[in-house]
Amino acid sequence: MKPSLPITTLLAAAACGATRTSPPPIRNIYTFPPNTFIENIAVRSNSHLLLTSMSVPDLYTLNPLLSSPTPSIVHTFPNASGISGIAEVTPDLFAVITAVWDLAATRALPGTLAVWTVSLATNPPTVRFVTSVPESPILNGLTRHPTNSRYLLAADSALGALWRVDLATGGKEIVFQDALLTPTGTVPGTHLGINGLRSDLGGKHVYFTNSARKFLGRVEVDGKGGVKGGVQVLANSKAAGADVVYDDLALDVGRGVVWVASHPSYAVKVMLGGPGVARQEVLNHTVRLLNPTSAAFGRGGRKQERTLYVTNGGEFVGLDLMNEGVVALDLS
Ligand SMILES: *[C@@H]1O[C@H](CO)[C@@H](O)[C@H](O)[C@H]1NC(C)=O
Ligand SMILES: *[C@@H]1O[C@H](CO)[C@@H](O)[C@H](O)[C@H]1NC(C)=O
Repeated sequence: MKPSLPITTLLAAAACGATRTSPPPIRNIYTFPPNTFIENIAVRSNSHLLLTSMSVPDLYTLNPLLSSPTPSIVHTFPNASGISGIAEVTPDLFAVITAVWDLAATRALPGTLAVWTVSLATNPPTVRFVTSVPESPILNGLTRHPTNSRYLLAADSALGALWRVDLATGGKEIVFQDALLTPTGTVPGTHLGINGLRSDLGGKHVYFTNSARKFLGRVEVDGKGGVKGGVQVLANSKAAGADVVYDDLALDVGRGVVWVASHPSYAVKVMLGGPGVARQEVLNHTVRLLNPTSAAFGRGGRKQERTLYVTNGGEFVGLDLMNEGVVALDLS
């Protein structure tokens, strides 16, 4: 008798020997109504998820511990059609990037890109405009400086640059620009260079993906967000699979692991070893992972910390984007 094939497969794309472990189960947490392209995620210390959508200017929150959670809107941003990156700055203070997006081009309409903070320590939340960044065509991933909460760092997927935003003054400038951060072209599939961005909090590095150039890398930053040395390439998405496209990521530096949300149906576990090519395990789930855009670990307990939340951008069914939302991987 032929055993039925599981939908989920785990492939080891390894430089140093393939090992097979059983894939972590994936649970659906919430599916948004059509055309709510879910882009990024942050997790509050109380376990609640914050979700951004590039197609609506609403910041959503939901409690993933409920058996059938429904999202509520934390804030609707003015002069914006959607939100890209989100990052926690200090406990329950989050920064976001808003713009009026041209979604087909994945660029902001000129002059509309802005950075805001949202404090969830007050009820209602306190929303503050930080600055506009009209010089950038797209700020995508967002993170805070690893040790200095005064600074945000943002990934410019078009200019191939890392921007620093000073939350104290609203000042913003490019602190690093490099060929390894640039896209390779101007059409979808090639037009996003540096994309996901996460700080090793308390450490020295900022980890990023370059979708077009197909790698995960990191740079070391100084106390003010300046970059020391060059880009260190850690893993290549082509080694994970020919069609794997890295998007945003979740860091577990303590375990030497980076999880990369990857299009079209993957969550890639990169195991950072010593020097050389990192080992990667590819979780391929064509039902639950639908153009994964970002990932974040749960918070608020040991079980939550071993839960990886992955956001799905969704899939086009005709002209409608369907089945976008958030799923959970129960890691062992
Ligand atoms: C929205 O944009 C208009 C026109 O540029 C501007 O006058 C207004 O202040 C903006 N509103 C907010 C809340 O930023
Ligand atoms: C993932 O699964 C799909 C559907 O079975 C398949 O077409 C694709 O080749 C798989 N990806 C990899 C890297 O094996």
